[in-house]
Amino acid sequence: MGDTIKFMLNDQMRAVSGLSPTTTILQYLRLQERLTGTKEGCAEGDCGACTVIIGELENGKMEYEAINACIVFLPTLDGRRLITVENLGMNAVQKAMVECHGSQCGFCTPGFVMSLTACMHNHGNANDENIQDAISGNLCRCTGYRPILDAARRANTEKERYLKTDVATLEGLRRETMFSYEHAGQKFFSPRTVEELADVTAQYPDATLLGGGTDVGLWVTKKHRTLETVIYTGNVAALREIKQTDAGLEIGGAVSYAHAFESLAAYDPSMGVLLRRFASVQIRNLGTVGGNIANGSPIGDGPPPLIALGAKLVLRSKSCTRQLPLEDFFIAYGKQACEKGGFVEKIIIPPKAKNVLFKVYKISKRFDQDISAVCAAFAIELDDDKVASARIAFGGMAGTPKRAAHTEKALTGKPWNEETVRNVMSALENDYQPMTDMRATAGYRMQVAQNLLIRCFIETTQPETETGVYGYGS
Ligand SMILES: Cc1cc2nc3c(=O)[nH]c(=O)nc-3n(C[C@H](O)[C@H](O)[C@H](O)COP(=O)(O)OP(=O)(O)OC[C@H]3O[C@@H](n4cnc5c(N)ncnc54)[C@H](O)[C@@H]3O)c2cc1C
Ligand code: FES
Ligand code: FES
Repeated sequence: MGDTIKFMLNDQMRAVSGLSPTTTILQYLRLQERLTGTKEGCAEGDCGACTVIIGELENGKMEYEAINACIVFLPTLDGRRLITVENLGMNAVQKAMVECHGSQCGFCTPGFVMSLTACMHNHGNANDENIQDAISGNLCRCTGYRPILDAARRANTEKERYLKTDVATLEGLRRETMFSYEHAGQKFFSPRTVEELADVTAQYPDATLLGGGTDVGLWVTKKHRTLETVIYTGNVAALREIKQTDAGLEIGGAVSYAHAFESLAAYDPSMGVLLRRFASVQIRNLGTVGGNIANGSPIGDGPPPLIALGAKLVLRSKSCTRQLPLEDFFIAYGKQACEKGGFVEKIIIPPKAKNVLFKVYKISKRFDQDISAVCAAFAIELDDDKVASARIAFGGMAGTPKRAAHTEKALTGKPWNEETVRNVMSALENDYQPMTDMRATAGYRMQVAQNLLIRCFIETTQPETETGVYGYGS
């Protein structure tokens, strides 16, 4: 054990050792490389001041994604290219930021420039929606966003491709078997196959599994925890696959929300609307669907719609593979049905029948980059005008993401009309006793949950009333 972490830093090769495996990319850049263009604002993925671009070879082609350097561990860079603001030179984005007065104190500016550079590169001809999404995870406290948006539009008229990588150099860094790294007793493993992953999790059953690290990174940067052994799923090829099979849409446990976006939005447009509001581009580039489930959070945005859609979870360990309905994974607050040494291999979403109406809603204080106070998902199966069955799941209403069993039962067999919905909505009080916290009061949560059932009825029967992506809290 004890290989070096090999990656490209801008245009140079690096082979790094002698640092804790939970050193963040941001700490490495500022303290080891003295590349201080990348800033630290919050150290928890919220402000975007630390935005860098990661380049990765996918099927022989380079993929570039903006991420938050403050919460990503250095060894995850192995085999990849890290691009910092120092490498951009006066590209079209930087030039436009100067010309449009897109910067005042300048602290946030490198982050905006990196986010916009990745956006311009990936979209070619970015529209306003692409641009707004790209900077949804970048906070500016003094310029105001209009000049920044002006700069983005101006830079967008340049048709250059922004980022270029020598593919052969990255090919040369590819590893066929597990990468292991150790420093001062702290271990990091990055398996390549599911079998290697099952072996190493069996060998280290108390290890921390690391997907995108958008939760785990904060355990280190904010809670100052020491992680003895970390097992990274981000290079396990099979866990990064999205497949359409007879069983439905299969999403590997290490697929990021950015990669799952297209398939989920195609499955149902309501999922696309939800995922545009999931954190920010940087977090969606990192955070995995598997991690969003495995963390057991009662306020994650993935579980409620996946439960309503009847998703199954495939859990695997060295000794067994088992499948369970997603709702059965959440036993109680902080308690999930995943044994030590086990991991989420994939999520299977069965095909949606034509007579199923589906809606998911996220209620949060801010449009972008905010955690839900309530997330509600409704899958209503109709037989003519009657409810043949209903699957309703809420986040933010209990200690786990949870189905609304009483409400589902009360709806079943009744006509799908406003009278039924208004009669049935009080059943939600039997399903949930929500709590009051900084995101919402218990009373607000219950009121909004009941209103969302009505909204679902109205939008599924009068599609012209749909408020789409901007109807987030009205
Ligand atoms: C700024 C910010 C904004 C956010 N906004 C949102 C939001 O809008 N909506 C939302 O739902 N969440 C949000 N989150 C939370 C987080 O991004 C998501 O829950 C994300 O999907 C977690 O995935 P990950 O891969 O980063 O998990 P990680 O941090 O890597 O892991 C999370 C947990 O899951 C375990 N784990 C990871 N992969 C597996 C696996 N394959 N099998 C078993 N266990 C595994 C880890 O050991 C850990 O316990 C936000 C986080 C941040 C920092
Ligand atoms: S420092 Fe704020 S997102 Fe990284
Ligand atoms: S220019 Fe000061 S925070 Fe954005």
